[in-house]
Amino acid sequence: MDFVGKPNRILQGEITVPGDKSISHRALMIGSLSQGLTQIDNFLSGQDCLATLKAMQQMGVRIDQPSLECLHIHGQGLHSLTAPSEPIDCANAGTMMRLIAGLLAAQPFNSVLIGDDSLQNRPMERITYPLSLMGANITGVKRDNKIYAPLSIKGSSLHGIRYELPVESAQIKSCLLLAGLFAKELTQIVEKGECRDHTERMLSAFGSDIVNQANHITLKPGKALQAQHIIIPGDFSSAAFFIGAASMQMGATLMLKAVGVNERRIGFLHMLNSMGAKITLHHLRYFNNEPVADIEVKGARLQGINVPLQWVVSAMDEFPMLFVVAACAKGETTIRGVSELRVKESDRIASMCQGLRSLGIAVKELPDGVIICGGSLQGGVVDSFGDHRVAMALLMASWMANDTITVKNCDNINTSFPNFSECAAQLGLEISKVQD
Ligand code: S3P
Repeated sequence: MDFVGKPNRILQGEITVPGDKSISHRALMIGSLSQGLTQIDNFLSGQDCLATLKAMQQMGVRIDQPSLECLHIHGQGLHSLTAPSEPIDCANAGTMMRLIAGLLAAQPFNSVLIGDDSLQNRPMERITYPLSLMGANITGVKRDNKIYAPLSIKGSSLHGIRYELPVESAQIKSCLLLAGLFAKELTQIVEKGECRDHTERMLSAFGSDIVNQANHITLKPGKALQAQHIIIPGDFSSAAFFIGAASMQMGATLMLKAVGVNERRIGFLHMLNSMGAKITLHHLRYFNNEPVADIEVKGARLQGINVPLQWVVSAMDEFPMLFVVAACAKGETTIRGVSELRVKESDRIASMCQGLRSLGIAVKELPDGVIICGGSLQGGVVDSFGDHRVAMALLMASWMANDTITVKNCDNINTSFPNFSECAAQLGLEISKVQD
């Protein structure tokens, strides 16, 4: 499906974005391992998290869905999962595959993880290697000295390890922590930077014995997890598209209610602020262990920046939108240290450079980043390469372009933001859908 973006006014209004994708996956997996009835409110009913929901059901967990955004998980404890009768399909979801692999490595049964074409081309040795250090028996498809899905897992008894993360990745960290729940000894993860810590916060909310001291995360296994009532904050990464779009339009006003503002997720806000954006957080509160706020944005004239490395990890998923903001800002924006973008749902540096060039923006692609020269966006036809975040970022560009923008291959927007078009329409951007 191709989407065509056409604004009918300057961005204005108030919306609530759907629940956080990262936290929804974790609540489902951890709730399924706990004892008792876990209720999850504001669950993200997008394709990625629905794939995790189906996987937990395949492993014998009773989960009811009284409404789209509410789940009741009838947890039977840490050792209650049963063998799935078919391969587990992770579809487009990297987070699901990497996290659930940790869980499965320690089960008393075998399993197979499959995914779509994009997922089968994403690196998996980053989890298979440390899992094998824990004693896991996990194999994948070898290509050019790398490992890709499908992954075959033979359930094994695991031992704890101390592991220094070679890449600042919450997926690796979380995979090992979930495996560590079943290990015989302590698991200790040492992180250099500060990637998202939703697993640590969620495990702690369920009563797990986990501490983080000076970037050393220590998990003591064996403690039963207790069912919880979890309310998922709005997804900052979904909110970011509209925060970015409002920031760069003079006269725009936006209010986003109940968005997660975990410090390890909001590097994008720091970047926008240093470009001159007018963003205010109101009514700071907590849902379970996660900070939440209402975010108010007023349009401003933005200035290009040299993006400081310290904010990069906490903005990793927001770079496609930052590329668009930079394209509309005055002057040059330099982004370095983001080679991880090349192994996301698409090569996001290449996808965004190609898209912006077709819309008339001068960009210089670098191995680990980009230099974007702010200018005037033109309308045109661009490809998202099936990447949900590239698709949504390029659609946001229509607000600033002199003509409509058609974005090809937009179906995967459903993986993370199923009501994206409705939210955009509420704020003044009409999105029409064309069968390709
Ligand atoms: C995620 C971690 C990040 C992020 C992804 C979600 C998670 O990936 O980009 O969208 O939920 O743990 P990495 O761990 O590969 O950095």
